[in-house]
Amino acid sequence: MSDSFYHKPVMQDEVTEYLITSNKGLYADCTFGGGGHSFHFLEKFDNIKILAFDQDADSYDYFLNNEQNKRFHNRIIFCRSNFRDILKIIKEKGFDRLNGVFADLGVSSKQLDDMTRGFSFNSDEILDMRMDRTKNISAYEVINSYSEEELKNIFFEYGEESFAPQIAAQIVRSRLKGKIRTCRQLSGIVSSVKWKKDKINPATKIFQALRIYVNDELGSLRDFLDSLPEILLPGARAVILTYHSLEDRMVKQSFKNFHKNGLKIINKKVIIVSEAEAISNPRSRSAKMRILENSKNE
Ligand SMILES: C[S@@+](CC[C@H](N)C(=O)[O-])C[C@H]1O[C@@H](n2cnc3c(N)ncnc32)[C@H](O)[C@@H]1O
Repeated sequence: MSDSFYHKPVMQDEVTEYLITSNKGLYADCTFGGGGHSFHFLEKFDNIKILAFDQDADSYDYFLNNEQNKRFHNRIIFCRSNFRDILKIIKEKGFDRLNGVFADLGVSSKQLDDMTRGFSFNSDEILDMRMDRTKNISAYEVINSYSEEELKNIFFEYGEESFAPQIAAQIVRSRLKGKIRTCRQLSGIVSSVKWKKDKINPATKIFQALRIYVNDELGSLRDFLDSLPEILLPGARAVILTYHSLEDRMVKQSFKNFHKNGLKIINKKVIIVSEAEAISNPRSRSAKMRILENSKNE
């Protein structure tokens, strides 16, 4: 795995331009993945360092073993942790505040394409979807042990899926015949209730909902956003890339609240990918970038 493709970084020039305000200090990359963004920052700015977070052991393994990027090891401090704990971790490591904070939310191409991780519709591996595999609840447990009501609520809340009641009922009926083990089985059950209308897989919203639930993605984002005012140095920026409306709404609302309390929203209009990038990297299409600055002088 060490030198194989991991993830194509989204809007890396735009992110760099907004995030790095001076060639010195410590910047956090809260979603290191394959390090595409971090390595770009380090290459362009020779005097900065990165505090990298990722809760997935594969990301840390890649960081350690990727030959090409070993030259950056002395400029990256890697924390195999959830970014929701950023404030506590910064303090534990003896840092005060940061020169900038970046988060590229969601999952990497490596996680989606690795069939053993159970994120992909066509995988015949067990449903899993945990980014951090030391955590207990996987998609398998949710699908096989949660009540019809609980499943329906998860599909509504995190997938905004209008067929949530029918899909939850069909899952519970299928469970009578035996465990639902694989991603392919689950997509099959969803397709038996919801017809394919366009190119999009009918199970897309169900998989999104499960992934968000299993990883408590919105809870982590909430904690992370709440800590921003305490971790940004004066003049420092937080740059966040979101990929679906639930997380984008949360970021937008938090930034509005911070703005009322004296922090500054840098882009009134959300920044999206160029047409060229959307064509060359279809997974970047839904990306939205929002930027906040600690404009207080202390
Ligand atoms: C979209 S990918 C980032 C890709 C990265 N920018 C790159 O260029 O390779 C998101 C990464 O963030 C990690 N991640 C998602 N939520 C996290 C959280 N709450 N805490 C720590 N890592 C998280 C995932 O494991 C994944 O590797």
